[in-house]
Amino acid sequence: MSLPLEPAVRDDWHVLCRLADLAAHVPAGFRLLAHDVWATRDAKGAVSVRSADGRALPVTLAYGHVFTSLGAPARPLFAIDEVAEPDRRLATCGAVRVRASGLRLVENFLDMAHFPFVHTDILGVEERPEVPRYDTEIRWDVDEVWATNCRFWQPLAAASSRGGQMSEYRYRVASPFNVMLYKTAPPDPARFDVIGLSIRAAEPDLSFAYAFLLLLDDATPATTLIHFQQTIFLQDRIILENQRPRLLPLSPKAETPTRADMSSVAYRRWLKAKGVRFGVFEAAP
Ligand SMILES: [Fe+2]
Repeated sequence: MSLPLEPAVRDDWHVLCRLADLAAHVPAGFRLLAHDVWATRDAKGAVSVRSADGRALPVTLAYGHVFTSLGAPARPLFAIDEVAEPDRRLATCGAVRVRASGLRLVENFLDMAHFPFVHTDILGVEERPEVPRYDTEIRWDVDEVWATNCRFWQPLAAASSRGGQMSEYRYRVASPFNVMLYKTAPPDPARFDVIGLSIRAAEPDLSFAYAFLLLLDDATPATTLIHFQQTIFLQDRIILENQRPRLLPLSPKAETPTRADMSSVAYRRWLKAKGVRFGVFEAAP
């Protein structure tokens, strides 16, 4: 028995899995938005996705992953222009299972205030915990949330780092379960690495996080890049699985925002305006 899904979630693109994890001609089952779906890859790499009742679902292959939708997407999958740059390198990190709402995962990804305490001596240092003022906006014309002019001192900003740097960040929430950041690339500080995080919301309180990297780094071995991201995400998982409620409250009164949480405030406001309910905490009336 499946719950009816709200259009903002039903008609959105959702990551299903890494393309590389689908073996040819072997149907693979996934849980997506409390529904069962099946993906099949043919020998040429084309992927088809079906719902449990046999309906063919939309498919987009991008950033090393399979994206699908349980409804009819009104627009193409979010575009990341950097993917076309010839010196970009794609690395996919695989799935991390987290017992929390996917919306909590996106919110955590937007949060810089936890760097010094959760990712100590990697993404932050305890001696410099302050989050300088940054800008957030809901861009209604493209239906995205952005946080810009974010700056943070990082001792080990990326696997390619040779020392600390003042990292500049831009965050982009392209849809409720798809977020990315653009971050100063250590080998070329005038340009940005792109780190994407796409969430497969299996159940309201159970998520699979798929991270991918579009980096200006042709030197670091892929296993080192992936290990770096996984180390960070496993630190986040401990925090995420201890948050209560597991679902994300959207009421402004639910959790008191501080200045460092302005991107979270914008994200929650946007989710509420879009009518998102999957993974949202709704207090008993
Ligand atoms: Fe984190």
